[in-house]
Amino acid sequence: MVPRASYEQVIAESQKILDMIAKKELTPEERAWVVEETVRGFRDHVNPGFLEYRKSVSTDYTAVEWDDRGVTFKDVHGKVFIDCLGGYGIYNCGHRHPKVMAAVINQLERQALHSQELLDPLRAMLAKLVADITPGDLQYSFFTNSGTESIEGAMKLARLHTGRKAYVAAVNAFHGKSMGSLSLTSKSVFRKPYLPLLAPVHHVPFGDADALEKVLSSCAFVGEDVAAVVLEPVQGEGGVHVAPDGYLPRVRELCDRYGALLVLDEVQTGMGRTGKMFACEHWDVVPDILCLGKAFGGGVMPIGAFVSTAEIWEEMTPNPFLHTTTFGGNPIACAAAIAAINVILEEKLYEKAAVVGDYFLRGLRVLADRYPQVCQEARGLGLMLGVEYRTNELGYEVAKGLFENGVLVAGTLINAKTIRFEPPLTIEKEEVDTVLNILESVYQKVARSMG
Ligand SMILES: Cc1ncc(COP(=O)(O)O)c(C=O)c1O
Repeated sequence: MVPRASYEQVIAESQKILDMIAKKELTPEERAWVVEETVRGFRDHVNPGFLEYRKSVSTDYTAVEWDDRGVTFKDVHGKVFIDCLGGYGIYNCGHRHPKVMAAVINQLERQALHSQELLDPLRAMLAKLVADITPGDLQYSFFTNSGTESIEGAMKLARLHTGRKAYVAAVNAFHGKSMGSLSLTSKSVFRKPYLPLLAPVHHVPFGDADALEKVLSSCAFVGEDVAAVVLEPVQGEGGVHVAPDGYLPRVRELCDRYGALLVLDEVQTGMGRTGKMFACEHWDVVPDILCLGKAFGGGVMPIGAFVSTAEIWEEMTPNPFLHTTTFGGNPIACAAAIAAINVILEEKLYEKAAVVGDYFLRGLRVLADRYPQVCQEARGLGLMLGVEYRTNELGYEVAKGLFENGVLVAGTLINAKTIRFEPPLTIEKEEVDTVLNILESVYQKVARSMG
């Protein structure tokens, strides 16, 4: 067991950390201390497994992230990295966008959290803005603290509205890891230790509307009617799979025919990531419930939402306490989300994602064609891009090579063969060129090592 510090020691230690947070510059000794304490803390108090896992990028643990701005971040030693991972889709506005920061700081200087009892204004104002920017007749929002909570809320609302119990999700889906959302998530390694999960849940192949129809009709036949079909318009963690054209419109039609709600999980695809404000707009499909998270907080605050129509929301009105969370929709998180909406619209970041994403994808495809022994395919939509490698090991070597050369990417949690490229939507073509040049040099090295 690790020896415990006394209260006096804890005061001194926490003060040292607070002083360090307040510092603009660290001395070399302080930097070394930060690395040492981080590794020790992960080993003894977070999870030593991360030290092994993180080796894929930070081989000697010296790269401990420290500060960030725009498209880049620095480790504690000042080495600059281009962020092509974007926190798995958090940083649509870039790291610490000045307008989002200002909103949060201004709000913090007045009030941080809400009383939980009075009407809090920013929640109301943000809900109105969300109704303005979301498609169709989506009108009411419940604000959460994370993506998984947005899914939990959507699952509960679907049961409430339909009075039905079953759900349909897709193979390769990722919707989060709390018990409800994990029931929809598809990878066995995450699910198996926790079975039995929420039931009934059926998983159908993504992109196959006929398979969905079969399940919906057999569920209706056996009397286990489906409350909701839950899908990501572009599967993220599953390896960047874009819904084939015609798929979501057919899903919409099937949901209507069988009386199931369509829940679109835009936790990762929302807020401009795929080249439209919401990915469902690519196919003119309006869900019954839309789930948000990740970039919704402008890359500064954690906040998510589930959004639905006035008709469906009626179930929540008689008792608004039926579903609550203490911190969801708090004033600082709402301030960040309001700023994020403002920035994404004002800077037309969704358009930028479409144009720069197309440019980036073309570059990734050229390289995939040039190095077929390494790459299988490059795919994606907007700035939600992925490259599938021939093997997990090759993907790992590429991620490692990029990191050594100042570019952060990561293999996906579910599909380690596919590396995601999800930079901030503020990335410029010149920065994409830099990444592509580095990527080519890494491919060359990897190809050479294959002989
Ligand atoms: C599509 C999708 N849904 C839900 C989640 C869960 O979000 P969170 O990690 O904030 O709980 C994720 C996270 O990666 C996601 O990509």
